Amino acid sequence: MAHLSEPALLHRSPAFQALKTYLIELTGLGYYHDKDGTLALHVQRHLTRLNISNLAQYLDLIRSPEGQEDLDYLLDDIAIGETYFFRNTAQFDALQYDILPERIANARNRGTLKIWSAGCASGAEPYSISILLSRMSPALKAIDILGTDICGRRLKRARSAVFSEWELRGLPDELRRDCFTRQGKLWNLNAQFVRGVTFRQQNLMDILTGPAEDAGGQFDIILCRNVLIYFDMDLMRRILARLRDLLVDGGWLLVGHSEPFLEIAHFLTPVSVSGTTAYRRCDGADGETLSTFTPPLVWTAPPVNFPGVPSAPPPPPAMLPNFPETPGFSVGANNAPVNYEIPPPPEPAVDPRTQVKGRDALDEVHKLADAGDWRKAMDSCTAYIADNQLDPAGHFLLALILEHQGQGAAAFEALKRVVYLDRGHALAHFHLGRMHAMTGDAKQAKRSFSNARDLVSRMPLGTPLAGGDGLVNDELGTLVHQHLARLEG
Ligand SMILES: C[S@@+](CC[C@H](N)C(=O)[O-])C[C@H]1O[C@@H](n2cnc3c(N)ncnc32)[C@H](O)[C@@H]1O
Repeated sequence: MAHLSEPALLHRSPAFQALKTYLIELTGLGYYHDKDGTLALHVQRHLTRLNISNLAQYLDLIRSPEGQEDLDYLLDDIAIGETYFFRNTAQFDALQYDILPERIANARNRGTLKIWSAGCASGAEPYSISILLSRMSPALKAIDILGTDICGRRLKRARSAVFSEWELRGLPDELRRDCFTRQGKLWNLNAQFVRGVTFRQQNLMDILTGPAEDAGGQFDIILCRNVLIYFDMDLMRRILARLRDLLVDGGWLLVGHSEPFLEIAHFLTPVSVSGTTAYRRCDGADGETLSTFTPPLVWTAPPVNFPGVPSAPPPPPAMLPNFPETPGFSVGANNAPVNYEIPPPPEPAVDPRTQVKGRDALDEVHKLADAGDWRKAMDSCTAYIADNQLDPAGHFLLALILEHQGQGAAAFEALKRVVYLDRGHALAHFHLGRMHAMTGDAKQAKRSFSNARDLVSRMPLGTPLAGGDGLVNDELGTLVHQHLARLEG
């Protein structure tokens, strides 16, 4: 059946829908409901590898006990496994300064400190916790860090504790030097950080049934980051309810910065901690030791990625360059932006790439924001923009900083400048959509989200996004999909 060698034809085969349904039911990856083309490309690779031309035969194989290794190969492809050490530094700050000190003290009375990284991929996440704990409390021995994932091949890599340069991106030299041993292009995690971390193959779908012991008992902290975004909302809710049961009273859940925080707040108490939001099980005496977080009514969304929001916002930037109104953008009554689509590419007088000066200065802005020095971050970012007016990266960073300060309208304007300068900036369209949705403008929100969706769907899978701190196009695509689904009710 030579026709199956074409992925474009593959997903028209009657067996394709059966395969897709099987995979979504097995894994929960509802993400694939409307991604036949992407799934067909993955499946095609495996048909070629196995020299199988019949899709029904392939489905029978991966459903059979003998085909579990082949299923695992496919899972390695279809379940996005992007991860790296200390991903989302704000959350690691929150662990270090707010969450772990209290949990460690509690564990001293109770016995073992139990932490679960659910959907750990190749292990950077549980190992980051191991590094953090060994630095915070070297004498603490009663630690149990569990990493689970549906994909056995990824777990094999995790157990080997060997990582690529890419998985260590952003890691300070000091941590590389102290925690890893270099081997050619690879990095071996030193044995003391590997000890105490165990890995187990586990499908999160299985925690919906079966006793808590099967899932590993109850935990002080669960990290389930960048996993639930690939699930349908209903499944996500059922898993969240179960994760809640699997936390001790006073235990914490950390999710990815793209996960729908209002949904999670139905199950656990959102708590504002070092520049991010974490979720806590607060049944009784243990709960409520930290101030709870009130979801914002307008604009002031929870921080995206920076720790240490100061108590009083700094004043607006002293001076920002004036930008022309973006073609396709206009401002309506109440200053509500109306009617914009992806504008035609601007014709800048100078090519931004030749004008960008001092990108190091932008890294410095990141560091200031990460350290919670918002006033200096804002000043430095404004200075950077004055020198590099046509670099969208500066305006994007400024938008994030402004939003963190509750300056939604100014943040919105900065985002408009980003899409004016780079109409392909998917994250800027996404944030514009989010802001429109927050102000109740569903029509414009849909437009912005659709722009973001169209842009990410044209990128190869796993493409890191400009300004995304490691977020890849597939992840944003899933998020956008959920926002659009919510807007469409
Ligand atoms: C994007 S990675 C996230 C890795 C890590 N948590 C992080 O944030 O860096 C998502 C992981 O979830 C896993 N996953 C997806 N569906 C799963 C399921 N049903 N059960 C367990 N793991 C799953 C994937 O295999 C993948 O390794």
